[in-house]
Amino acid sequence: MTTSLWTIILAAGQGSRLARETGGARKQFLPHEGRPLYWRSVTTMAAVPSLAGMVVVFPPQELDARTRELQDLKERFAPGVPVLAAAGGERRQDSVRLGLAALPPDCGRVLVHDSARPFFSPALVQALLAGLTDGTGGVIPALPVTDTVKQVEGDMVLSTLRRQTLRAVQTPQLFPADMLRQVHERALAENWDVTDDASMIELAGGTVRVVPGEPANIKITNPEDLSVLSSPAPAPVPCTGFGYDVHAYGGNRPMVLGGMPIAGAPQVKAHSDGDVLLHALCDAILGCLGLGDIGEHFPDSDDRFDNIPSAILLSEVMDKARQAGLRITHVDLTVVAQTPRLSPHKTGIRANVARLMELADHQVNVKATTEEHLGFTGRKEGIKAVALVTGLRTPA
Ligand code: CTP
Ligand code: MG
Repeated sequence: MTTSLWTIILAAGQGSRLARETGGARKQFLPHEGRPLYWRSVTTMAAVPSLAGMVVVFPPQELDARTRELQDLKERFAPGVPVLAAAGGERRQDSVRLGLAALPPDCGRVLVHDSARPFFSPALVQALLAGLTDGTGGVIPALPVTDTVKQVEGDMVLSTLRRQTLRAVQTPQLFPADMLRQVHERALAENWDVTDDASMIELAGGTVRVVPGEPANIKITNPEDLSVLSSPAPAPVPCTGFGYDVHAYGGNRPMVLGGMPIAGAPQVKAHSDGDVLLHALCDAILGCLGLGDIGEHFPDSDDRFDNIPSAILLSEVMDKARQAGLRITHVDLTVVAQTPRLSPHKTGIRANVARLMELADHQVNVKATTEEHLGFTGRKEGIKAVALVTGLRTPA
């Protein structure tokens, strides 16, 4: 068959089974990825190469507003084929009939799709198209049933259906357009009441074939289905921060490194407690956060920070990190000093920094080096430290 292929996208239902959860909003118009949900079906259909166009069927009382919305979506996202709007009817089958009336006369094959099933793939449509051979009255996607299905009346079981022969069917469903038009006319004349279009072909004695459906192609129907519409949690973004600090010797602050007193070491000049290593570390964390440097947050000119233990500054910076959604994964620290000798202190400093940052010891590394008697550290005029912090930041 080479006649043109169109799609009817049904978006005229009430969504009554979800009304309480959505505050009365119809499910096909719920926002999804920043657009009304039905637009996702339009986008997927637009990816089918042989498609000539679509008709979206809206609730009649919303037709004008929804047609304007559709126009705006078409301008923004250019689906590449005509997308028309039509008013629907009371029952699903009425909406299909009214959608059929809006199709162009040259339409030879028609897909009918529930916009409440936003997660089908273009490959499913290809499988349907391959199944529509001459003489076939319809091709529909179907999945095996996993529950045992019983016929009941009230609370009494009448019979058990043979599960092996049962299938749960989905949309899109594909039909020769003239055949679907005919059965819809007959359904109207003879008061048929059905839940899908293939049923009408069956009632009229036509042949309907199944192809494998898609497990992800669920129909959003009940409150528990709404969770599939919520976006996945944003992925954490890796980040790195670098810090550097220097303190001169000859001051009146006993040396503290990583919050650990270093007995017998030269005293340092400082406004705070002069912990050069924690200052470099704080700057590295602020670097990850894009929040400037320690001087901006704890200025020298502020008396509140006079001789303040740097562990307190670190805890405040860690609070900022938590608020910003930063999870620190590793810290690498280097102290550069000719004196004192630091190797006896490295393990203690590592354990203390890990404790202050609520990390495991293996997430913190402490190194010490001299500068071979070169420069100000080599002349024992002061001490410097560098820090590298890596982490994962989850955007708010
Ligand atoms: N539909 C339609 N016109 C109707 C009834 C239903 O276009 N008069 C559409 C719905 O918008 C939906 C699809 O047919 O995309 C499948 O119907 P269903 O899941 O039953 O949706 P609703 O009828 O909207 O929901 P409910 O039955 O809970 O009211
Ligand atoms: Mg319904």
